[in-house]
Amino acid sequence: MSSIPENKQTISGNSPNPIDLPLHVAIIMDGNGRWALKKGLPRIAGHRAGVDKIRMILNVLGEAGVKFVTIYAFSTENWSRPKSEVLGIMGILEDVIETETERLHQSGVRIIHLGRSDRLGRKLKTSVDHAQNLTKHNQAMTLCIAFDYGGRAEILRAIKQILSDGISGQEIEETLLNKYLYTHNIPDPDLIIRTGGEKRLSNFLLWQSAYSEFYFTPVHWPDLQAKQIVEALDEFASRRRRFGSIEKALGS
Ligand code: IPE
Ligand code: IPE
Ligand code: MG
Repeated sequence: MSSIPENKQTISGNSPNPIDLPLHVAIIMDGNGRWALKKGLPRIAGHRAGVDKIRMILNVLGEAGVKFVTIYAFSTENWSRPKSEVLGIMGILEDVIETETERLHQSGVRIIHLGRSDRLGRKLKTSVDHAQNLTKHNQAMTLCIAFDYGGRAEILRAIKQILSDGISGQEIEETLLNKYLYTHNIPDPDLIIRTGGEKRLSNFLLWQSAYSEFYFTPVHWPDLQAKQIVEALDEFASRRRRFGSIEKALGS
């Protein structure tokens, strides 16, 4: 890997127009349960404590100029957790969407849900529909919230819809498949951050992460601080993305 060119600016350099700022940052918010257990609290306390961190990261990323943020809140596999935890997480999601939508709308944030909506409770589904409708023309930032989301389920759903639209095998290309994903019109994530120490995708944005950069931190989600986000952005700025090609010689 080549070294950073001298004129390279980084986020913490407070550049008004930073070079190599990710357009889209996606975050796997992990470690809530372990955070709570370490403190002798029930796991759900960790999920509650994590909510404030969503506000914090949106502020930090927004100030840096990131235009698309995706947060992974509940996977298709998370339904296999004890019912009390699932109900607790759903309740927190309901509260967050209900209480935060207006504020996010005032800040020009467009809210998009990624995932299945047919298995959500009626109240949550209503709040999600309202949030998406209210904010659909906002342009300052797009916030995608992935819940009841799984990358494999998303790809299968796309294939089924393509078939039911009578599209022939010959017509199926990457751009077409993209249009059938929950993320249609959302650029692929440039940077995926995972908190909580695990180094895996856990079924997150499988198709879209083909050329994403990854940043892992052992910090549990409720302990996350702005400095770790800044570190992730700085680290991203130092990466060399080649997309399978080779780097152009500097100055050529
Ligand atoms: C992530 O935290 C949030 C969800 C999966 C809903 P966890 O609940 O997975 O926390 P750990 O990984 O068990 O600590
Ligand atoms: C991924 O975390 C899902 C979310 C953060 C919403 P998990 O805790 O479910 O993932 P695994 O089980 O450690 O792979
Ligand atoms: Mg986990």
